[in-house]
Amino acid sequence: MTKLTDTAERPGGEDLIGKISLPGVFALDGSSEAMWVDVIHRMEEVYSELLRNETDLERKNAELEEAQTFISSVVASVSDILIACGSDGVIRKVNPAFLTLVGLEEATVIGTRIFDYVVETDRKEAERLMSAGQEGRVLEGDLHFRAAAGREECLAMRCAALFDGRRRRFGAVLTGRPISELRQAYQALHQAHLDLQRAQRKLIEQEKMASLGRLVAGVAHELNNPISFVYANIYTLDRYRKNLVSYLNAVHEGAGDDQIAELRKRLKIDAILADIAPLLEGTIEGADRVSDIVKNLRRLSFSETAERRPVDLDRVLRNSAHLATRAKNSRASLTIDSDPDLFIDAHEGQIHQVVVNLIDNALDAVANRADGKVHLSARRRGKAVELVVSDNGPGIAEAEMSKVFEPFFTTKDVGEGTGLGLWISFTIVQDYDGEITVNNNADGGAEFHVILPLSS
Ligand SMILES: Nc1ncnc2c1ncn2[C@@H]1O[C@H](COP(=O)(O)OP(=O)(O)O)[C@@H](O)[C@H]1O
Ligand SMILES: [Mg+2]
Repeated sequence: MTKLTDTAERPGGEDLIGKISLPGVFALDGSSEAMWVDVIHRMEEVYSELLRNETDLERKNAELEEAQTFISSVVASVSDILIACGSDGVIRKVNPAFLTLVGLEEATVIGTRIFDYVVETDRKEAERLMSAGQEGRVLEGDLHFRAAAGREECLAMRCAALFDGRRRRFGAVLTGRPISELRQAYQALHQAHLDLQRAQRKLIEQEKMASLGRLVAGVAHELNNPISFVYANIYTLDRYRKNLVSYLNAVHEGAGDDQIAELRKRLKIDAILADIAPLLEGTIEGADRVSDIVKNLRRLSFSETAERRPVDLDRVLRNSAHLATRAKNSRASLTIDSDPDLFIDAHEGQIHQVVVNLIDNALDAVANRADGKVHLSARRRGKAVELVVSDNGPGIAEAEMSKVFEPFFTTKDVGEGTGLGLWISFTIVQDYDGEITVNNNADGGAEFHVILPLSS
C-alpha cells in the first residue's frame, strides 16, 4: 500500500483526494486537510485489508469445498453402509449404500431415527450398539434392517462414538456390511463339508469292511491248507487205528501164527507203523502253521505298549538278511553296506519285520534268476536314516506302483503271498513318522526306500 503521510508533497492532484474532493463545502485549511487525508488513508487501509480477507476467504472456501467433495465422494464410494446419528438415534448423515439398502431418498431419511429401519426384535441390540462411548471403543453386532421391497437384510455392524471439537460425545457412527449372502454361502459350505465328511466316513467304513472281508478270506484261505491236511491225516490215522485194533484183537484172542501173518499183510500193519510217525509230524506241522498264521494275525493289530529302545540298524539288517536267505533257501547274492552307529528308537521286532518283508520280496523277485542280486544300504541323512533295498528282478509295473502298499495286493500265487507284507511295513514305518517309497532302479529291478528318524 502506498504510504500517504505527507500531503504537502501531494497537492490537490492526488487521486483519492481528487475523488473525494469537496470543493466549496469546506474550506480546507492545512490541518483539516491533513485530517481528511488521514481518514481517507485509513479507509484505504481498511478497504485493502477487506480485499485481502476476501481473497483469503475465497481461497479457504474453495479448499473447504474441495475437501468436502473429497470426503463426500469417499463416503459415497464406500460399499459398506454408513450412518451418522445423534445420541438420540436421529440420523444426520447416510451414504448411498444405506439409501440403496432401504430404497429411500436422502431427504426422507435425514431426521428419522435409526431404530425406524431396524426390525423390532433387534431394537435392543441397536440400542446397545448406539451406546458405544468410551474413547476408541467400537461395539460390534448383527442387525436386521428393513430393506427395500419388503426384504430383510442382516448386516454385521460396527459402531463408534462421534465426538465434537471439545471431545464431547454427541452421537455415533455405524458402519455395516450385509452378511446374509455370506452366511448363506457359509452355510452351504458347512453343509457340503458335513456331507463330504459323512461320505468319507462311509467310504472308510466300507473300505474297512471290504478290507476285513479280504482279510477273513485270506486267512480262511491260508488256514484251509494246513487244516485240510490235519483233517486228512486224522482220518488216515483213524483208518489205521481200526486196522490196528482188528490186528491186536486177533493177537489177543490167540490167533495162530499163519493167521496173524496173513492179517498183518492184509491190514498193511507194517506200512501203517512206518507211516504213523510222518503222519503225526505232518499233523504237528499243520498245527504249527495254523499257530503261525494266528500269530501273524495278532501282529496285525500292533498294540505295542512297551517302551521303544535304541535299535542298532546294522545288526537288524544282518540278522534279517541271514534269516530271510536261510528261510527262502535262496541262491541270490545279498550285499549290505551300512554307515556305522545308526540307532533308531523303536521296537526291534517291528524294524526287523519291515526289513524281512523287504528282503523276502526282493528274494522272491530274483528267485528265477541265476545271477539274482539283492543290495541293502543304510545311510545317514541328517537326523534320519535312509534304508534302501534294491534287487535286479523284474521290477514293478507302473500301474502297480501305487498298489503295492495296499493290503492284500499280491501278484504271487495262492499260498506264496498274502499281500500284507508291504502294507504292514507301511503301517509300521508310518508309526515311526517315517516314509516308505518305491521306484524301479537302473537295472529295472525294484528299489524300496525307507526313511526313519534316528535316535536323538
Ligand atoms: N522287490 C520287488 N520286486 C517286484 N515286485 C515286488 C517287490 N516287492 C513287492 N513287490 C510286489 O508287491 C506285491 C505286494 O508285496 P507284499 O505286500 O510284500 O505282499 P506279498 O509278498 O505277500 O505278495 C508283491 O506281490 C509284488 O507284486
Ligand atoms: Mg511280501
